[in-house]
Amino acid sequence: MNNRHKSGAPWRNFYGRIHGKGLRPAQKAYMADLEHLSPGPVGWNDNPDRTPLDLRTLFGDRPVWLEIGFGSGEHLVHQADLHPDIGFIGAEPYVNGVATLLGKIRKAGLKNIRVHAGDARDLMDVLPEGSIAKAFLLYPDPWPKARHHRRRFVTPEHLGPLHKCLAPGAELRIATDIPDYVRQTLEEVPKAGFEWLAETPDDWRNPWNDWVSTRYEQKALREGRKAHYLTFRRI
Ligand SMILES: C[S@@+](CC[C@H](N)C(=O)[O-])C[C@H]1O[C@@H](n2cnc3c(N)ncnc32)[C@H](O)[C@@H]1O
Repeated sequence: MNNRHKSGAPWRNFYGRIHGKGLRPAQKAYMADLEHLSPGPVGWNDNPDRTPLDLRTLFGDRPVWLEIGFGSGEHLVHQADLHPDIGFIGAEPYVNGVATLLGKIRKAGLKNIRVHAGDARDLMDVLPEGSIAKAFLLYPDPWPKARHHRRRFVTPEHLGPLHKCLAPGAELRIATDIPDYVRQTLEEVPKAGFEWLAETPDDWRNPWNDWVSTRYEQKALREGRKAHYLTFRRI
């Protein structure tokens, strides 16, 4: 098959940043924590058969929530601190963001987070069907140019697998500051099997009750853009 690597892994172009400036010594030390904070074999080399992860071993009977593209991890850490009875998995390919999150996990002493330092698509391959009770996609990369819209997360390539791993009735929260991203989200997410829960404009203008503003949101607000908070339910 010409759209796969020799290992069997599909070609998945990742257009975002993986490395920023070099890690500080402390951040390098935090990266060692990935050893015990990994959710299990996610990569194609470690798990060529794509065997589903054993979430029960990781979290026991606790419900599991997923954050895709956690950036520097402020929201993930906030949620994990608020909800010790939930198991969290975060996915983020940007190494500097991962290192920052790991530092925050150490500082807060949190025990209920697992981290996939890579593409959420690889993680979604191996999440058991219907295993995720809530998912967060907060300020996904905007890809503003029309010819790049197909790189956005709210496309069938991403939403199909996300739908597969979410439990029926699970909540999906999407935040964005880009009006055209709202348009595409409201077009694509319902097509992928989700229902938009907004009843009044306040429902998408106001953040969720347990929200903490993320680094990207702070920048967007400083630059005069408006936040949109979209809540869906997996059908
Ligand atoms: C605009 S940033 C927002 C970060 C953070 N959520 C925030 O609000 O500050 C988008 C993030 O999504 C990550 N990302 C992009 N594609 C991804 C993918 N396929 N899987 C996981 N994360 C991804 C990027 O690396 C980047 O850190």
